This record gives sequence, structure tokens and C-alpha cells, in this order.
Amino acid sequence: MKLLVVGSGGREHAIIKKLRENPDVTEIYALPGNGGIAADATCVAIGAKDIDGIVSFAVEHKIDYAVVAPDDPLVLGCVDALTQAGIPCFGPKANAAIIEGSKVFSKDLMKKYGIPTAEYEVFTDMEKALQYLQAAPIPTVIKADGLALGKGVVIAMTREEAKDAVRSMMEDKIFGESGSRVVIEEFLTGPEVSVLSFTDGKTVVPMVSSMDHKRALDNDQGLNTGGMGTVAPNPYYTDEIADLCMETIFKPTIDAMNAEGRTFQGCLYFGLMLTPKGPKVIEYNCRFGDPETQVVLPLLESDLLTVMKATTDGTLTPDMVRFRDGACACVVMASAGYPQKYETGYEISLPLSVADRVYVAGAKLTDGKLLTAGGRVLGVTGTGDDLQQALDAAYQNVNQITFENAFYRRDIGARALKALK
Ligand code: AMP
Ligand code: GLY
Repeated sequence: MKLLVVGSGGREHAIIKKLRENPDVTEIYALPGNGGIAADATCVAIGAKDIDGIVSFAVEHKIDYAVVAPDDPLVLGCVDALTQAGIPCFGPKANAAIIEGSKVFSKDLMKKYGIPTAEYEVFTDMEKALQYLQAAPIPTVIKADGLALGKGVVIAMTREEAKDAVRSMMEDKIFGESGSRVVIEEFLTGPEVSVLSFTDGKTVVPMVSSMDHKRALDNDQGLNTGGMGTVAPNPYYTDEIADLCMETIFKPTIDAMNAEGRTFQGCLYFGLMLTPKGPKVIEYNCRFGDPETQVVLPLLESDLLTVMKATTDGTLTPDMVRFRDGACACVVMASAGYPQKYETGYEISLPLSVADRVYVAGAKLTDGKLLTAGGRVLGVTGTGDDLQQALDAAYQNVNQITFENAFYRRDIGARALKALK
């Protein structure tokens, strides 16, 4: 079987490595992939947003199954276009990907169908938003409506900060058209949990839970990033909470999307907050999380391709998706300066003995050398019987890898370990 995976990050590398475990897979193309993915797939320089280019390539190379991993092509209708061209593929169509593509859509969906989430107001008029903030409870949360590279959320601790955020989104348009509508919502507290799920539009099967570490520096200091590390499972996510989420969030979301004529097939990501008033949805993503995927897929016992195809065919059953016991941890090695300015082009020394445990996010191959080429460079993982073992393994692997200007958090999993005790 010939497969195609759209995307170029650590998440895509993890998906590709898992897909390769299926003995029927003879070839995987990554569009565009990266210098590290090149060890596991044939990288082709077609961008993830070049929908026409992706479809032409898939047809020309008689691709048997495609996986569209990033949010942009999903929202742009890549799955629709591939399906129309006769290529079966994993991921939601554009009319369902809107659950991530528009925060206003997802908030209105939750309100309409009684799915627990933060209270909110939507504004298209900046003056009205500023007026509302005069008396709104502080802290408050300001969100740009559309995709904003994961940066469209501001937690405002003061009224002035809130107003500044509204002005920069609605007046200065720092996120372009994404900011022409904003959601202002209630500030929630509690541990956060990421739950990725497989769904064929009828059945929803949650994967093992995970915990992201979004801030750049130890002790959750510094700027928000795309994610500096993850652990799975998330110790806050007990069986009891999982059952509650299935009844109050997961199933109702799948049903709501069907009722709206927007059947969701693929991976639906639930970003949850376990508040004192119960689990609530912070955000939906229409795709696998990054770097959640890097800790979830290594624990997947089932064949990934079989499960993915079942989401496309509408034949998914809960017993198809099995996870092994134990834990997995991922430490992101980044370029110093990330998520702001950073330098690239440094050679990465990565011993073969750990390559198996490393998912490459931002690197390129030049004259046979692997060079840094992004903010987040590597996702270095470890697995074990429990979280401590997994963390020890991950950090041991980190210690064997060097590149100039490397930086990483030393406290990935520390909070999770504390919760276990
Ligand atoms: P997002 O970019 O949507 O993943 O949001 C980034 C982070 O902002 C989330 O992981 C939460 O930590 C935080 N966040 C988003 N919405 C809220 C909220 N209503 N209350 C508190 N924190 C929030
Ligand atoms: N790690 C969060 C995300 O993928 O959006």
C-alpha cells in the first residue's frame, strides 16, 4: 500500500513511524515532511496548504490512503478534494473542521447542545467589546475567531491587558481576518487534559489521555508555545472523569455535529479543563495534537492504519483501539529564543541508538547532515512501566543529543508526578 501524509512536524513523524509498523505499507510519501522524516518516508516538496498540488500528486502516484494531519489543509478542504479525486483519506471534511477553524462556531455549538464550556460573548464590533470589558469579570480570556497558529488566545489578568488584546486583534489585525470576530470568555481554573479521539462520525473512541506543557520555561513561566513537552496518561484524568466526559462531552459533540449536518470523521481533539464544577471544553481541535501525538501513538497497541481506515469507512468499534499499560513522555528540544527569535542551521548530533525515540519537528537535511531549521526541533520520547520510568528514559535520551543553542524544559511531567503522589 502506498500512503501519503500531509504535514511537516513532530506529529507527522510520529504518525508516519506508527503507520510503518503495518507490513502492508510499502511506501509513505510526506508532503512536505522534513529532514528527519526523510529517514522514514519519501519527502516531496509540496506544501501542506497546496491542495491542488497534493491532490495531483496523490492521483499521479496512485495513493491508496492519505492522512491529512495539520489544521490548515483540513480547514481548507484537503480531505474534500482528495475524496472527490477518489483517494480515501483520514481527517474531517471542511464543514466539520470548522469546529477548530472557528471559535465562534464551536462556542455556539456547545451552547446550543448543552456541552459544558466557559461562558462567553461574541463581538464583531470593537467598541462594543471594549465597553463589555469595562465591567467584565477579570481575569478574562480573549480569543480570535479563526486559526492563529495557536497564538490567538490571551489570558488577560487586568482590564487594560484585556482591552489591549481586543485592540490588537480587532484594530491592528495581528492575526489578520481571524481577529475580525473575537470571543471573550470566562476564565476557568483546574488541571488541563488533552483527550484525542478517533471517530467515524457515529462511534467515538478516546485515546489515552495526555498533558501538554505550553509555557516555554520551567515552572510554567515564559511565553506560550506550541508545546514544550507532554506525558501520557494524564494522572488527573481518572476513569470516573473519563466516563463523565464520554456522557457529557464526547458523545454529545459527535451527535451535535451530525445534527448540524457536519459529520466529523477523523481525530477529534478535546482540550478539557477539570474545573471545580466538572470537566469543561477549552477548545476542540480537528486533528491530532502536537506534541500529544508523540506520547499517545507509542502507547497504541492496535494497528494505526486499520483504525484510521475504519474512521473513513464508518466501521469503527471501541475494541479496535487498544492502548498498552505504562506511560510515555516527550521532551521538546527547541532552539534558544523560541517562541520568539531564534537561530537555525546548527548541526544536530543524534546517535542512531536514540533515533527510534525521536520525532523530528524542525530540521533539514543538507549534504547528509541534519541541521536545525525551526523553533521546536526534536520531540525526544521515552516509555516505561510508569511515568517516572518514562521521564527518566526521555531525559536520558535528551542527554545523548546535542546541537548548538539547544534548550528544553527540565520539569516535564513534574506536575503529573506530584498529582500521582
Ligand atoms: P488554546 O490556544 O486554545 O490552546 O489556548 C491556550 C491556553 O489558554 C489553553 O491551553 C489554556 O491553558 C488557556 N485557556 C484557554 N481558554 C481558557 C479559559 N476559558 N480559562 C482559562 N484558561 C484558558
Ligand atoms: N498541543 C496543542 C495542540 O496541538 O493544539
